[in-house]
Formats: sequence, C-alpha cells, structure tokens
Amino acid sequence: MTTRVALLISGRGSNMAALIDAMQRGTVDGAPVLVVSNIADAGGLGVAAEKGVPTAVVSHRGKAREAFEAELQAVLEEAAAEFICLAGFMRVLSPDFVRRWEGRMINIHPSLLPLFRGLHVHEQALAAGVTVSGCTVHEVTPDLDAGPIIGQAVVPVMPGDDAESLSARVQKAEHVLYPAALARCLGAAPRPVSDGLLLSLR
Ligand code: GRF
Repeated sequence: MTTRVALLISGRGSNMAALIDAMQRGTVDGAPVLVVSNIADAGGLGVAAEKGVPTAVVSHRGKAREAFEAELQAVLEEAAAEFICLAGFMRVLSPDFVRRWEGRMINIHPSLLPLFRGLHVHEQALAAGVTVSGCTVHEVTPDLDAGPIIGQAVVPVMPGDDAESLSARVQKAEHVLYPAALARCLGAAPRPVSDGLLLSLR
C-alpha cells in the first residue's frame, strides 16, 4: 500500500522537490499528501503547489511550542499523513511530538553524522580539516541529529572550498540520497545507487 507522506519545510525546499519528484515518478512508493511550512513565504511552498501537492502554513510565531505542535498535528491528521520527511525544517520538535511519530519520521542532515551536528555544519567540517563530507538520512528521535542512521552519501572536500561550495556539493548528493533512503523506509528492496556517488543504505 502506498504510504501517505507529509513533508515539513522552512525554506527553498530542494530536498522536498526531489522527494516529491521521486514519489510522482513512482520510484518511491509514497504519495506526497501535504507540504507544511512554518514560514509563510518559504520558497518551497510555491514549488510544491506547482507540482500539485497541497500546502499548509503553520506559523510558530507568537505561540508556545505545544500550541504550534498541536496545530501541526491537526493538519497532518487532516491530510491522513502516515510518514513525515523533515526537509530543511528549522524547528526543534518536542520529545512528545517526536515520540508520537517515532519510526515514521526521518530527517536529512548535511554532514556525515555523528560528526558535525547542529548548525553551521560546513564551517565545522572545514575547520576540522576533513577531506570528505556528505549527508545523512536518519530517524528522528528526541535527541537532535542523533537518531538511527538510514543512509549516507560521501562527497570530497576540495582544496579552496568554502562553506558555500561545499554546501552546494553536499546538496547535490542529498537529492540522490534522500529519495533512495525514503524508498528504503517505505519498503523498497535495497539497491545500489551509484551516479558516481559513494552512497550506502543500512
Ligand atoms: C539541507 O541542506 C538539509 O540537509 C538541511 O537543510 C537544508 C535544506 O535545503 N536539513 P532545502 O530547503 O531542501 O533546499
């Protein structure tokens, strides 16, 4: 049975777009039923609408986290969402919300976890002097960026890289990794993904 997937965003939504495309192409056995943004003018909302996916804005401004999450839960239930992909969603979710969706909510983070959690990830990677970086799709648990790893993709750090150039390289890898990881979560058999990218799924 095709899983009903909601995507949570705060920004331009390039990962969201890659996930919707994969579901609409049928390479991932999911149906994108709702895109929710906590930011009213997030660029991803227009992209989702162009792709024919319903959108909702649930603002976090001027309300307690419980109230924000209650509204979020309500729109997810209204859409009968069964699985959540966080795709550049910039709010930390409470342990209560996370537990409600545990095992049914995943996130993408632009580093090879457990290295470089939190923000300013590419600056952290460059400061550490690593020669490879990448991205990680993981289950969301109450501990930030610390849930079980579903898959990772590796990219080189090139001489002369700054946070912007490294981020661009990692993002290209994200757009391959995230659909592959979602497919795996929704029951697809493991398959090698290459595209010249070192990518591995658990
Ligand atoms: C990505 O780099 C992702 O790893 C991080 O936020 C960024 C979102 O970018 N969690 P986009 O909105 O998907 O373009």
